[in-house]
Amino acid sequence: MPRHAYVNGRYVPHGDATVHIEDRGYQFADGVYEVITIVDGHLVDEEPHVDRLDRSLNELRIAWPVSRRALGFLMRTLIRRNGVRTGIIYIQVTRGVAPRDFRFPKGAEPSLVMTTRHMTFGSPKLMEEGVSVVTIPDIRWQRRDIKSIALLPQALGKQQAAEAGAFEAWMVDPDGTVTEGTSSNAWIVTGEGVLVTRPATNLILNGITRLRILKLAAAAGLRYEERPFTVEEACCAREAFISSATTFVTPVTRIDGRSIGNGVPGSLASALRADYLAFVGEAVPA
Ligand code: PDD
Repeated sequence: MPRHAYVNGRYVPHGDATVHIEDRGYQFADGVYEVITIVDGHLVDEEPHVDRLDRSLNELRIAWPVSRRALGFLMRTLIRRNGVRTGIIYIQVTRGVAPRDFRFPKGAEPSLVMTTRHMTFGSPKLMEEGVSVVTIPDIRWQRRDIKSIALLPQALGKQQAAEAGAFEAWMVDPDGTVTEGTSSNAWIVTGEGVLVTRPATNLILNGITRLRILKLAAAAGLRYEERPFTVEEACCAREAFISSATTFVTPVTRIDGRSIGNGVPGSLASALRADYLAFVGEAVPA
């Protein structure tokens, strides 16, 4: 089945999908995006993802390219055309095409591009062994709550992690606290068994998986706190893990080469992963 992309009103073969060289996404990273998990042909947590897209667009004063209802229809059509049962859909909206000028263009139409990808989530090896993270300075701007396509600090960070043989890099603010991963939220479990993750301020992206895990934790009666934690606290924690639309709940067993807990995935992370998998299995039909 040929893979198609959606580009401004057309479904085009993936290899031929293009936008104009003066698209402001290309020149200024003037755009936002979402990544939504597809499980069994269903979109996981579609509504909160689209709510976050709406928020990101509003914060940057970019208009919706199509109605919210139409977006739902277009996403489903692309997923069906591409025959994706398990994977992701990538949605990107930019301010549109205009002669290069820093100021907002008048009359430009926002661009909407969508692609899908087949993907499987969480190899058994990763789940058995957990993953390594390295810590790096957080060199990003102060509006990390916007899911902007300006991802150069994250690309540099992820590359640094890969070159160090790690799966993810945790970014650290000048005060020594962990903000988040380059493409995931960061979590620890204290010696007392309390789940800790950073509160959703301008300093992190409020992950949709993060929000779902907090709900699942509350439903399971787990104790949790939304507060910043330092690298040192994380290294001494009982457990650590990351969350995102593509990693779900993935245990972290090494930070900067130091073993976390007893060096194997923790019981709380494993239980939350199981709860999350049960939740995605129950995602609303597309
Ligand atoms: N990234 N923090 C950052 C900086 C992220 O880029 C992401 C997601 C998250 C987790 O958000 P969510 O749970 O909604 O996926 C946190 C996506 C997956 C990406 O860029 O590919």
